[in-house]
Amino acid sequence: MSKERAYNFSAGPSMLPLPVLEDVQANLLNYKGCGESVLEMSHRSAEFKEILADAEKSLRDIMNIPDNYKVVFVQGGGTLQFAMVPMNLAVKSGKIDFVVTGQWAKKAYKEAEKLGFDAKVIASSEDDVYTWIPKITKDDIRPDADYVHICFNNTIYGTHYPYIPDTGDIPLVADMSSCILSEEIDVTKFGIIWAGVQKNVAPAGIAVAIIREDLLGKAPADIPTYLDYNVHVEKDSAYNTPNTFSIYVSGEVFKYIKSIGGVAEMHRRDVAKATKLYDYIDNSDYYRCPVNKEDRSLMNVVFVIGDEAVEKKFVSEAKAAGLHNLGGHRTVGGMRASIYNAMPEEGIDALIEFMEKFKAENK
Ligand SMILES: Cc1ncc(COP(=O)(O)O)c(C=O)c1O
Repeated sequence: MSKERAYNFSAGPSMLPLPVLEDVQANLLNYKGCGESVLEMSHRSAEFKEILADAEKSLRDIMNIPDNYKVVFVQGGGTLQFAMVPMNLAVKSGKIDFVVTGQWAKKAYKEAEKLGFDAKVIASSEDDVYTWIPKITKDDIRPDADYVHICFNNTIYGTHYPYIPDTGDIPLVADMSSCILSEEIDVTKFGIIWAGVQKNVAPAGIAVAIIREDLLGKAPADIPTYLDYNVHVEKDSAYNTPNTFSIYVSGEVFKYIKSIGGVAEMHRRDVAKATKLYDYIDNSDYYRCPVNKEDRSLMNVVFVIGDEAVEKKFVSEAKAAGLHNLGGHRTVGGMRASIYNAMPEEGIDALIEFMEKFKAENK
C-alpha cells in the first residue's frame, strides 16, 4: 500500500485537485465508456476533439474571455513562450520593454535579446533581490515598443503585481504561469496572457495562451511553423499531435473550478489560506517574510529563519512529517511554501502546526 498523500508545497509541478485526480483515475482505462484511455486516444478522434473544445470553452467561461481573444494550448511549457511571444509580436519596431521582477522575467528578456530583438529593461527590483514590484507608468515605456512584458506572479521570490500596468495602446503581455485562475482578471487589459500549466492547471508540458485577435497573423513567414500562434489558432491547438493528456486534465480542472463557484470562489479560498500563513509568519519572532507586504504573492509564500543549517533541517524534518518540497529556490535558499489552488486549507494548518513545533525545538 502506498503511504498517505503528502501536502506537496512544490513550486511546480504541484498538487492537483483531489476530486479531479479521482475522476481521472476512474476514467483512466476506459474514458467515459468509449473503450480507450485518453492516454491512448487519437488526437483526431471525435472524443478528443470534444475534450479539446470543452477545455477551451470551460476556460473561456471561468476567465470570462471575450470573443476577440483566441485560446491555444501549445507545447514547450512556459520557456517556449519566451521565444514565441517576441517572434509573433515584435514585428514593427522590434522593440520590447521588460519589467524584470525575478528570474523568469529576466529569462524572457534574455531570450528576446538572444533572438536579436531590441530588448530593454525599463524597471527592475534586482538590486533588492526582487522583494518588491516596481510601479511603472506609460512614461517608462518606449512609445514605439511593440509590447511590454511582465511576470505577474514571481514564483521564486513570492511577489505578485498589486496592479495592472497601464501601457496605453501598447500591448501588455503577462506571464501568469504561477497565478492563473487564482484571481479574477480583466483579460481586456492584456494583449497576451500566457501560463505554463504545471502549477494551477494540469500536468507539465504545455502552456495556455490567450491572445488578442488583432495581434495574430503578423509573424514573419520564415519563423518555424510551430512557433506561429496563428497556426495553432487555425488548427484548434492540434496542428501536430498535442499533449493530449495535459489538455484533458486542464479541461477537468477548469470544470472543477467552475463547479466550486468559479475563479471568485477560488480567490476567496486562496486569500484565506495565504492570509493565515502570512499572519502566522508576521506575528512570529522566529520566521520572517522578506517580501514587501503589498506585493506579496497568494501562491508562493517565501520565509526565512536566518540560519542556513537550521533552514535545511526545517526542510528535511518537514518532509518527514509529510510536508514536501518546502525548500526555497536553489538560487535564494530559505523556505518557500507554494500554496496553489489545489492546496487544501488543512495543508496550511498542518504547516503552521509544524512551524510552531520546529520553533519550540530549535529556537
Ligand atoms: C513564472 C514562471 N514563468 C515561466 C516558467 C517556466 O516554465 P517551464 O518550466 O514550463 O518552461 C516558470 C517555471 O516555474 C515560472 O514559474
